[in-house]
Amino acid sequence: MKVAIASDHGGLNIREEIKSLMEEIGIEYEDFGCECQTSVDYPDYALPVAQKVAAGEFDRGILICGTGIGMSIAANKVKGIRCALVHDVYSAKLTRQHNDTNIISMGERVIGAGLAREIVQTWLTTDFEAGRHATRIGKIAEYEEKSEQ
Ligand code: RB5
Repeated sequence: MKVAIASDHGGLNIREEIKSLMEEIGIEYEDFGCECQTSVDYPDYALPVAQKVAAGEFDRGILICGTGIGMSIAANKVKGIRCALVHDVYSAKLTRQHNDTNIISMGERVIGAGLAREIVQTWLTTDFEAGRHATRIGKIAEYEEKSEQ
């Protein structure tokens, strides 16, 4: 599995923590910034990651900002992206099993690094259950197709 990760200035510490986790558990990743300690605009980081995941260059994406909200809003504008804002381990598991999310978003001002690690580990290792859930996400994909016309 190949993961694209990015954060704005509000998510730098958790981004580093999650990179360490992925090294520990042997997940290949690429870091798409930000590099800076100054204020940046989260769509500039969310959208490139979402586009790369949607294009199949990466299997999954991980985005972190202050709340996780801006990143998730931006990522979900990209066709084919199912991004969940997750701050608990139960949702991390269910959003893989039921929603087949391909991006997860978290807020560094909301949760600590330890919980973020557990969330990501759960999310990376939980499979989609398909079945009735595939029908449901299929309806979202159908809507995306139609609204493009
Ligand atoms: C930046 O101050 C903050 O707005 C951003 O990190 C994020 O929380 C937006 O949703």
